[in-house]
Amino acid sequence: MSVAGSTEGLDLPSWACVSETRRAHIARVAALLERWAAELRLSEGEARAWRDAGRWHDALRDAPEGELRALTGDLALPANLLHGPAAAARLATAGEQRADVLDAVRWHTVGSSAWARCGRALYMADFLDPGRSFARADRAFLATHVAGDFDGVFRQVVRQRIEWSLREGKGLFAETVALWNAVR
Ligand SMILES: [Fe+2]
Ligand SMILES: [Fe+2]
Repeated sequence: MSVAGSTEGLDLPSWACVSETRRAHIARVAALLERWAAELRLSEGEARAWRDAGRWHDALRDAPEGELRALTGDLALPANLLHGPAAAARLATAGEQRADVLDAVRWHTVGSSAWARCGRALYMADFLDPGRSFARADRAFLATHVAGDFDGVFRQVVRQRIEWSLREGKGLFAETVALWNAVR
């Protein structure tokens, strides 16, 4: 049974600050990660890492900018990019020690060439969320191929996200460029 769209039992941290819409996105991302973990027959530990990264990545997405800047000490990054580093900082303070989970959450908006599989999987799930309205068929197709061609789909997702940024006239972060150079 598909759990996409259901937020029952999502179990966000007590400090999470998310709208209902965001909560549904988080649930779909976590569901995709669970599906891929099952298809890839990951160990229980790695599957839990993927699911936790999915559940936590946007936990502070709707938090006030002041809180995000206080948590990160970052005064330079645009406000919409602070929620990843802020959530990672909050998780680390709460005792989270899994580097792959913290790195996945910290860098999920811009990408990181240093990512383990957990960060790469989260980056794909965030983009391939079936609730996003653009290119639905193409993205659903990619989602079905993650287990069979993890690296190929990852490269495709990095490419599509960069293409979108260029089309929209947005700047590229050094981390994003380094990620592309590492996977192209
Ligand atoms: Fe995010
Ligand atoms: Fe997200």
